[in-house]
Amino acid sequence: MMAIQIAPNDPALHASVDAKTEEVRKLLRRIVENYAPAALASSFSAEDMLLTDIVLTENIPVEIFSLDTGRLPQETYDLIARTRAHYGAEGQKIRLYFPRHELLEPYTLKHGINAFYESAELRKSCCFIRKIEPLRRALSGKKAWITGLRAEQSTERQLLRIEAYDEDNGLWKFNPLLDWTGKEIWGYIKDKNIPYNALHDRFYPSIGCAPCTRSVTVGEDPRSGRWWWERTESRECGLHVKNA
Ligand code: ADX
Ligand code: SF4
Repeated sequence: MMAIQIAPNDPALHASVDAKTEEVRKLLRRIVENYAPAALASSFSAEDMLLTDIVLTENIPVEIFSLDTGRLPQETYDLIARTRAHYGAEGQKIRLYFPRHELLEPYTLKHGINAFYESAELRKSCCFIRKIEPLRRALSGKKAWITGLRAEQSTERQLLRIEAYDEDNGLWKFNPLLDWTGKEIWGYIKDKNIPYNALHDRFYPSIGCAPCTRSVTVGEDPRSGRWWWERTESRECGLHVKNA
């Protein structure tokens, strides 16, 4: 989401952020007690930076991983490096999963390097190779995964629950920030002064792969900058859509 300007002294915002942060802490502790091993999926979005901050500063035993599709914006790679530095030894443990070369090399040979613009089918197979298959490996052996999904992000996401069994991946899925507002997310980030993606200050509310993400203008749907050339209502890559 866009970096939102936060008034330095907003007691009501402080109070709601503090109360919700406490709820997230409690939920994360309950997850590690009952669903270990658990993993946090991070795309280094503002939401994921908040969850990462709680996990790493509170020493909650949750593996943090990110799916490096190979096509992320330079700003995201810079943020990965800044995050590792910010959290020191703990930050070095953030794990990256890469696509399998046996799948990607034949795909690019057959369809070209930018095939996602040609058809929805080729776009989905690119997402499968670069995100879904690596996600399966990241989740294998885990009892629960944790995401930064929020209800405000789309109508589909309003149907999600904080805690639900994820049939597609065969483990529990937790969305601790489901009910947070954008303002609350930025209230936390600005207050704690934690790193965030530089693209958020340049009108990129939702950031995925570089070729499939663009900036939006004021009043546009926050996810309208994702796969904007596709004529569809749903802006999902398959990581979450089936769970809605
Ligand atoms: S997406 O489905 O459109 O790509 P979005 O960017 O909104 O998802 O991110 C929602 C949540 O999905 C993130 O908070 C994070 O938990 C997870 N996620 C998305 N992309 C990745 C990624 N590349 N690596 C790890 N987790 C991701
Ligand atoms: Fe491929 Fe675009 Fe999907 Fe990234 S978002 S995996 S580049 S189709």
